[in-house]
Amino acid sequence: MTVLTRVQGDITEQHVDAVVNAANSSLLGGGGVDGAIHRGGGPEILAACRELRAGHLGGGLPTGQAVATTAGRLPARWVIHTVGPVHSTTEDRSALLASCYRESLRVARELGARTVALPAISTGVYGWPLDDAARVALAATREAAASGAFDELRFVLFDERAYRAFDPSS
Ligand code: APR
Repeated sequence: MTVLTRVQGDITEQHVDAVVNAANSSLLGGGGVDGAIHRGGGPEILAACRELRAGHLGGGLPTGQAVATTAGRLPARWVIHTVGPVHSTTEDRSALLASCYRESLRVARELGARTVALPAISTGVYGWPLDDAARVALAATREAAASGAFDELRFVLFDERAYRAFDPSS
């Protein structure tokens, strides 16, 4: 039985098997969640990302896809980097946002991760409205939860507004 939970806090402080990072396609770090994960996890994460860029991800990680690296010094085993879509008012990119959660959880399952921390992807720099992002995220994550492959899928929200929007019981 998988539980879908939410906490308000810092994703880098979650003691889980895998932490999902709201990265950008360069995989070379940034602000927000990405910056916190690289700061907290240390240089090993960036080194692993650089190796990916030197290898099969030479062109960067496409939006909606996910790839795992070490979690470095974070209290987790893996970081699963995914690239959210930038919100658009003229184009519906919901399928790409859903793919971030679906692909991240597919990678987590392949790794054997049983507990996963997930951020509110695309709701910061990438400007996605929280309520709609929560709707997409919860639907995609509920699908993975139904597989029974996980013990806990934990949304980690940085502020009260996001916490209220990401209500698994909604
Ligand atoms: N823990 C949990 N959530 C956090 C943290 C943290 N330490 N820091 C920020 N957040 C929240 C933000 O408040 C927002 O709700 O994560 C959500 C996603 O915001 P961003 O990190 O800005 O991610 P995103 O909107 O997907 O934009 C990605 O920003 O940091 C760059 O390199 C990243 O270019 C990429 C872009």
